[in-house]
Amino acid sequence: MPSDKSLRQTADERGFNFGVAVDPDALRNDVSYRARVRDEFNTLTPENALKMGPLRPSPETYDFGDADAIVNFARANDMDVRGHTLVWHNQTPTWFQPWDYTDDQLERFLREHIQTVVGRYRRTVDVWDVVNEAVADDGTMRETVWYDAMGETYLDRAFEWAHEVDPEADLYYNDYGADAINEKSDAVYDLLERLLDRGVPIDGVGLQLHALGEWPDCESIAENIRRFQALGLDVQITEMDVAFPAGEAPEDALQRQAAFYRDVVEVCLDTGVDTLVTWGVGDANSWIRVFRDFSERYTGDPLLFDDRNRPKPAYDAVIDALDG
Ligand code: G3I
Repeated sequence: MPSDKSLRQTADERGFNFGVAVDPDALRNDVSYRARVRDEFNTLTPENALKMGPLRPSPETYDFGDADAIVNFARANDMDVRGHTLVWHNQTPTWFQPWDYTDDQLERFLREHIQTVVGRYRRTVDVWDVVNEAVADDGTMRETVWYDAMGETYLDRAFEWAHEVDPEADLYYNDYGADAINEKSDAVYDLLERLLDRGVPIDGVGLQLHALGEWPDCESIAENIRRFQALGLDVQITEMDVAFPAGEAPEDALQRQAAFYRDVVEVCLDTGVDTLVTWGVGDANSWIRVFRDFSERYTGDPLLFDDRNRPKPAYDAVIDALDG
């Protein structure tokens, strides 16, 4: 049943953080996009603006313009901000060539980056994805520039540096494909247990939940969430979108998509997860459409709003679940 309350009102009443990944240009230039973000969500994640590449046009300079615009918009509209992301192997600046640096220099570079960015948004960014996607699909540690320079302790240091600068912020490890119980989430679980054993200041784990083609089983997602919680970690759903294999969407695709969104919200409510972020506002903004690898494999309509930012059945389903 369509509701007379907005998603944001419903989430606020439930004490739930319902978030969205946002693009600063759309926020500035597209009136209907801006209105949807303000009226329907109470939490924002900059989709790209806080990543190292967009933030650092040259070795000596930072450009905080886009990130500031999003954080200021969030503050003006009484929204929380998830900071995404401090350490990742993707979207590093084009001028950044690891072979220009010794291992010690890379460690100093990363420390300076984390301290600068977390310092700027102290008390305005509530949660940081400190490290993103450190585990490879087969469960081994991903061999990134940071892992090559510092070994697994790059995670320890990253969390410690962020915590030193902003002890109030919640610090998360974030990954994809680790939503349900599987080989990869086992590896993430083991990694986070090692970090906790070493006294690393980590507060939570972000399960991205890009449900593309094959959707994870909800009972298994709940079991997975509970085992991370049993380690003492909070869990958030950080990048949700829901697509079918390209060319294989059933006739009732929108209803099935809505049912999956509803089931995931119910899993959150059952397990005490208080934050779910969708990875974009309307389908026209979905990253899936931009990457050929993905747009050829999956349907390009994975979000709660359609190409013109009109609500889809999935929108009503999440309101219904939150209101239930
Ligand atoms: O803004 C520039 C534009 O100025 C330039 O002309 C154009 C030409 O390439 O690129 C534009 O930047 C692109 C940016 O998206 C904005 O559209 C980047 O090339 C492109 O790489 C970037 O893609 C982002 C991707 O991460 C990078 O790997 C997606 O928007 C973003 O949705 C996606 O998000 C990731 C999460 O951070 C981590 N989890 C998976 C998720 C989906 O891949």
